Amino acid sequence: MIIGVPKEAYPGESRVAWVPSVLPAMIKAGFEFVVEAGAGAAAGYPDEAFAAKGARLANREEVFQQAEIVTQVLCPGANDRTGGEDLKRIRRGQYWVGFFRPLGELATVQAVAATGATALALELMPRITRAQSMDVLSSMATVAGYKAVLLAANQSPRLLPMFTTAAGTVTPARILVIGAGVAGLQAIATAKRLGAAISAYDLRPAVKEQVQSLGARFVELPLETRNAEDARGYARQQDEAFYQKQRELLHQAVAESDVVITTAVVPGQKAPVLVTRAMVEAMAPGSVVVDLAAERGGNCELTQPGRIAESHGVHLIGLINLAGYVPYHASQLYARNLANYLGLLFKGGRREPDWNDQIAADTVLARGGDIAQPRVREFFKLPAAAAQA
Ligand code: NAI
Repeated sequence: MIIGVPKEAYPGESRVAWVPSVLPAMIKAGFEFVVEAGAGAAAGYPDEAFAAKGARLANREEVFQQAEIVTQVLCPGANDRTGGEDLKRIRRGQYWVGFFRPLGELATVQAVAATGATALALELMPRITRAQSMDVLSSMATVAGYKAVLLAANQSPRLLPMFTTAAGTVTPARILVIGAGVAGLQAIATAKRLGAAISAYDLRPAVKEQVQSLGARFVELPLETRNAEDARGYARQQDEAFYQKQRELLHQAVAESDVVITTAVVPGQKAPVLVTRAMVEAMAPGSVVVDLAAERGGNCELTQPGRIAESHGVHLIGLINLAGYVPYHASQLYARNLANYLGLLFKGGRREPDWNDQIAADTVLARGGDIAQPRVREFFKLPAAAAQA
């Protein structure tokens, strides 16, 4: 199978779906690679490095023409700026693998399906032990959680660690992490390494122990959270009364923090607003809010997605795709996840995945010209698709 690696087309995106070091094992397993010239340059992987590991270099049209499996980080949907241009390049019967934002806009998902390509959306990876090594969402969340802390440290007028100096003692910065999933836990770990005093909150009670094991204080809110987690391990959407109560209870904790990092998302939904304007106004000037949910509308009412803004002297970091700001390692993790995933799907030279395997069945977004994913059809209230052979 020939794997195609186009250069990422989203403006400013510097990741690349594959890195040279991952190629040899794949080539040994029977895959070939055709890489668009310059695809890895912004991430620190020059063309020569790909060529040295056995990839052929080509232009974008050739990559799309020759590849049987087109692999990208941001496919149409996830690339909502320029992704549509590749719809005319992809062909019926090709595999197309990457982030597609499958619960985003129906028209885009339908346009992807209409190409006739078999689209495999990595956001749909099941959260089962066997799929952990293929889970790009977790990899990118890990990188984003780390970068969030560095951005906050950079923007903050304060030192993060406690300093004991001849000029006296500096107290550590207080960091609050709201939403302690993969990104939040990595933010805690990173902030810990920098010496901050960290507290964290999540509506899934199971997280408490993980937060504490990283050396952070778990913020207990007297809220009913029995129904907080769905069968897939994601947070369930709560009603507005719950979020209202949550905001009231979080007010004090936010006001007392020098840095607030929010990561709370619910799949397919707009992110819940957990930090209001009043809460931002209660923070000390120079404080920082990093909103990792910016792409989904933001957990902070004042977040401007894609931008760093300021309100009442508080810095509001709403940059999206934070993993893209650490492209060398984000690409490396992405490539390793892809290698594990494609290695399973096309194991032993097979040319079509076993659609009875949960990993293939859960990630297939479109096939044969139609949206093939029951979860996505249900989400958009489409009638069930006819079974495909
Ligand atoms: P996520 O990115 O969907 O959400 C981030 C965090 O925000 C979650 O912890 C969620 O509970 C929290 N949240 C949502 N609404 C909230 C609210 N109103 N207030 C406070 N917090 C709120 O979740 P993520 O990080 O992708 O992972 C969630 C869980 O899934 C974790 O326990 C993780 O270990 C597990 N997981 C398992 C995998 C596997 O077994 N293959 C792979 C990835 C994650």
